Amino acid sequence: MKHTITLIPGDGIGPEIVAATVRVIEATGVDIEWETQILGAQAHEKYGTTIPDQTIESIRKNKVALKGPQMTPVGKGFTSVNVGLRKNLDLYANVRPVKALPNVPCRYPELDLVIVRENTEDLYAGLEHVVVPGVVESIKIITEKASTRIAKYAFEYARDNGRKKVTAVHKANIMKLSDGLFLECFYNQAKLFPDIEADDKIIDNCCMQLVMRPEQFDVMVLENLYGDIVSDLCAGLIGGLGLAPGANIGELGAVFEAVHGSAPDIAGQGIANPTALMLSAIQMLNHIGERDAAAKLHDAILAVFADGTSITRDLGGTAKTNEFARAIEDKIKANSAATA
Ligand code: NAI
Repeated sequence: MKHTITLIPGDGIGPEIVAATVRVIEATGVDIEWETQILGAQAHEKYGTTIPDQTIESIRKNKVALKGPQMTPVGKGFTSVNVGLRKNLDLYANVRPVKALPNVPCRYPELDLVIVRENTEDLYAGLEHVVVPGVVESIKIITEKASTRIAKYAFEYARDNGRKKVTAVHKANIMKLSDGLFLECFYNQAKLFPDIEADDKIIDNCCMQLVMRPEQFDVMVLENLYGDIVSDLCAGLIGGLGLAPGANIGELGAVFEAVHGSAPDIAGQGIANPTALMLSAIQMLNHIGERDAAAKLHDAILAVFADGTSITRDLGGTAKTNEFARAIEDKIKANSAATA
């Protein structure tokens, strides 16, 4: 079956890791027509807006996008196009598997958990204003509707993926109303999934527990900001941001992207690690029903890491982005020839 998928190269290392990822996806033999679109500063220059209608329409039509990271100016300038895209398409569930790969030097080689982050509200609502000079108010929005649907998503995900437990992460001891509501919605949903264990942790204790005993977690469900921060913490447990994939899922479509950003410090040097985006592509292939292609890509990534000869610089190797992609491509071809 032929698929049309929106492709957003992004900023910084984006175009490099996107090209590497498209190359290995195509090596699996899956039939995809890519519809390239832009966002952010590039789009502003071309169309006068950071989130052009064409890009949104393309994702709405195709229902699936593979996206490179987008730069967001710090402290000034335009608002995050990532946040804008997620809100615009109501991509409410950000699903981020955290699983170590063979041979990667890391603290927890056996770790295997999944973060489900609420993607549309919380402090990311972007409601900030100066009350009087020197005093700024930033508003945290938590709703029953969004908290209920993300908790439901987390329990359904656990059930569908053979997972045993969902942990809600919060600060309801301090934010009794907002995080209290999030927690209440979580436990209301938990009653509907008696086969899945449900518990909760306060965010600060949760961070300590993640560093000391992360194996106690299975699926974690978090508000937007906690989910963002804990995702990077978890990436650090399995070897770094170069290995952490993600999917943004909603009723209108799904956008697949790595957890990491545009890495301006290494952009243009051809040394970025494309693994996180390739793992996001595996989530995408499964999402569109191309399970064989997903398995081929996954097996090839595992094999290249097991060989340990084509590892990128962030993980202590010397391979450039395109050399790593070539190694994966060669593995896919060799595996396909062996099974033909
Ligand atoms: P970052 O994730 O881009 O980089 C943090 C560190 O990790 C840097 O040292 C970088 O070189 C390294 N790193 C990240 N990805 C890597 C990869 N694939 N291979 C090797 N090394 C990698 O975070 P930073 O510097 O805070 O943000 C840069 C820009 O990215 C900002 O404008 C930020 O807003 C944006 N960003 C975009 C995201 C998205 O589009 N989904 C997510 C996170 C940040």
